[in-house]
Formats: sequence, structure tokens, C-alpha cells
Amino acid sequence: MREALEKIRSEALAAIAAAQESAALESLRVRYSGKKGELTGILKMMGKLSAEERPKMGQLANDVRTALEAAFTARAAELADRALAAQLKSEAVDVTVPAAPISVGHQHPLTIVINEVCTIFEAMGFETVEGPEVEYDYYNFEALNTPPNHPARDTQDTFYFSDNMLLRTQTSSVQVRTMEHRKPPIRVIAPGRVYRSDAVDATHSPLFHQIEGLLVDEGVTMADLKGALDVFAKGMFGARTATRFRPHHFPFTEPSAEMDVSCFACGGEGCRLCKGEGWIEILGCGMVHPNVLRGCSIDPEKYSGFAFGLGVERVALLRYKIDDMRLVYENDERFLRQF
Ligand code: DAH
Repeated sequence: MREALEKIRSEALAAIAAAQESAALESLRVRYSGKKGELTGILKMMGKLSAEERPKMGQLANDVRTALEAAFTARAAELADRALAAQLKSEAVDVTVPAAPISVGHQHPLTIVINEVCTIFEAMGFETVEGPEVEYDYYNFEALNTPPNHPARDTQDTFYFSDNMLLRTQTSSVQVRTMEHRKPPIRVIAPGRVYRSDAVDATHSPLFHQIEGLLVDEGVTMADLKGALDVFAKGMFGARTATRFRPHHFPFTEPSAEMDVSCFACGGEGCRLCKGEGWIEILGCGMVHPNVLRGCSIDPEKYSGFAFGLGVERVALLRYKIDDMRLVYENDERFLRQF
């Protein structure tokens, strides 16, 4: 029995010292000291020893058990230390590596233009408001003096949800919504998306942006319209910008006009940007039609107003010399970074 115990001691100690992983160490523990382990097996045979031998063997067995326990514990600690060191090494962070650059974005060219226009009008006392893009036929057409079958609807075909609900074709719808719940004096500016069923090309998109303006008060005349829009044009395109108004037709204004600004590339002499004209068309405008006022319960005998609608893409494309409208929607960073 002595030899058996000594053998277990030397074998087990060698195996423990050689164990490279805690799992291997654990299976050694089971093999030698476990309930069905080799050491336990020998202890069970103690009963067969003589009374004289038993205490000696008992002592030796205890020594062996204690030695194995100590070896297991020490080796386990070593392996744990080693595993931790390896993990620390593999997960090490090199704090001296320069940080990845954080790229800070900036506003989209369309947003830049919208904010500039709104800021200029806000300085003149206009308040920026918004209206829904999914709109009733009533606000988009009917209340803007454009009844069903009016020819002006042909140029503004859009996407219908039902007979009376559509994607708005113009921000002019916000005029009516505003006048319905506000009493004059009214001064609002309404930027937003509008939709038309146009095929995509360099100058068309089924989604684009407009900015609507509306002013209603007592004694408002065409002179106020021209004055306000002239201030806007100078603020937007430079102090030397001249404006000119050409008669036009919109169902919801009377009289109606289109406003041109002197070309901000050539100053009016004629260049590629203005196609030799010296002038660039910027917006539609006019005096709010009495029918529109009346429909919003505003007395046209007492009040008058002017309105205008500006195409945001048009201004952005001209200002930044962008020759294809699709670029402003594709959001290619190489394009956007330029603004
Ligand atoms: N809504 C018109 C369009 O989309 C633009 C417009 C013209 C707006 C005259 C106005 C206006 O407010 O008075 O073509």
C-alpha cells in the first residue's frame, strides 16, 4: 500500500505540474482525489490492514491527500494568472493610437437655401409655418380658386389617395390653412415638400421644395409686394440685385406676376447661367384673389394681401451652379461635401 500511495503522489504531482489548462487540471483532480478517484480507492482498502499498519498508512494517505490538494490549488492559481495575462495581452488597447477622425456633417444645400430665405423674411416680421404634405383637394386647389376641371390642374397632376386627398402640388395650400385660423394681419412663410407626377430628369423631380409667402392686412398693395420681394432678392442674391415683374396668371392671385432677378453671375449683361437674358426667373406672385380671401371668411373689401411661391431647387441649382437636379437628392457625399 505504501508503494501504491507513493506512486499516486509522484504521478499526480508530475501530472499537475504538467497540466496546461484548468480543464485538464480539473480532470486530474477527479481522477486522483474525486469520489471514485485513485486515492479514494486506496483509502477504502484501509480496513484490510492490520491494527499496527493502519495508523501509519492513514498518516501517509493524509500526507498524500494534503500534498495533492496544495498542488492542485497552486497550479490552478498559476493557470488562472496565465490565462488572465494572455487575455490582457490579447485585449490590450493602444491608447497612443490616434483617434479615428469624426466627420462632422453640415446642412444640405436645399436646407441652406430654405433657412436663408426664411431668415430674410423673418427679419421682415414673417413667421415660418408648415402644412401637411398629404393634403385635401380643397386646400391644394378648390380653396385656391381652382375648381375641378380648371385647366390649371393639368399642369399640376399629382398622386391621389382618394378623390379628395392627394400629395400637395404647391405650398400655396398653407395659405388657406393659415387664413382659416388666423385673422389679419397675417405674415407667414411656409417652406416644404411638394409633389407632382413628373418623370425624373435633369430639371424635374416628382418631389421638390417650395417656399410660400403670404401677407394679409388692411391696405396692402402691389407696391408692398414689390418692396418686400425686392428686399428679399437683395438679401438673397446681393445688394446690387435688381428685380423685374412680368405679368402672369395664377388662379389664386389677381393680378399675378413672375419675378425675375438680375443675373447674379453676370450682373445682367448676359451669360451662360441666365442664357444670355441677364435675368433669372425666381418666383410666382400676386395679390391674393378676393375669392380666396372670401373662402377663408376674410372680407376682401376690408383686407387685401400678397402671396408668392418660390422654387427652392431652382434657387439652389442656380446659386451653386448645379447642372442636374438629381444630384441634390442622391446624397452622394462627394457632392454634398462641396457646400
Ligand atoms: N403655387 C405656384 C406654383 O406652384 C407658385 C405661386 C404663384 C405661389 C403665385 C403663390 C403665388 O403664392 O402668389 O406654381
